[in-house]
Amino acid sequence: MSAVPVPSRLLSDDAYRRIDRELAKYPPDQRQSATMSALRIAQKEKGWISPEVIDDLAAYIGLPPIAVYEVASFYNMYNLKPVGKFKLAVCTCLPCALRDGEKAGAYLKEKLGIDYNETTADGLFTLIESECQGACGDAPILMVNNDVQCSFMDNQRLDELIARLRSEG
Ligand code: FES
Repeated sequence: MSAVPVPSRLLSDDAYRRIDRELAKYPPDQRQSATMSALRIAQKEKGWISPEVIDDLAAYIGLPPIAVYEVASFYNMYNLKPVGKFKLAVCTCLPCALRDGEKAGAYLKEKLGIDYNETTADGLFTLIESECQGACGDAPILMVNNDVQCSFMDNQRLDELIARLRSEG
């Protein structure tokens, strides 16, 4: 089944090519299986998933927009609003909370001067709480930009991380 044409495309040709490769992994009647990958590709390019991008992906995959939105809103690795250059996702689920996960979150809030789901004024950092990242024994845990997991994040390591990211920012 070929891609459904859409009136105005929001992503680059390269992004649609990569989505096509994901779609090709599934039978024609299972195109919805590529939704998570399509969202990941779109977010990598745009930085966040706007309602227009959801509509665009839905049309491209051949799904109702609500089906794409349901996936995008279920997982907190998808950004449904703009985020800073570095999204810091601190695990505060119970096993981590019992091993200083909440303390790490509180320290970052204080250090960055923001609450959860907020972005620093310089646009560098967004802080969110995350669900279990599968590394409970390494608490406190945080993930940078859905890609890099940081373990045993005591205050000193948090200071070092923020300093390094600021220097990269
Ligand atoms: S509860 Fe935090 S990584 Fe599992």
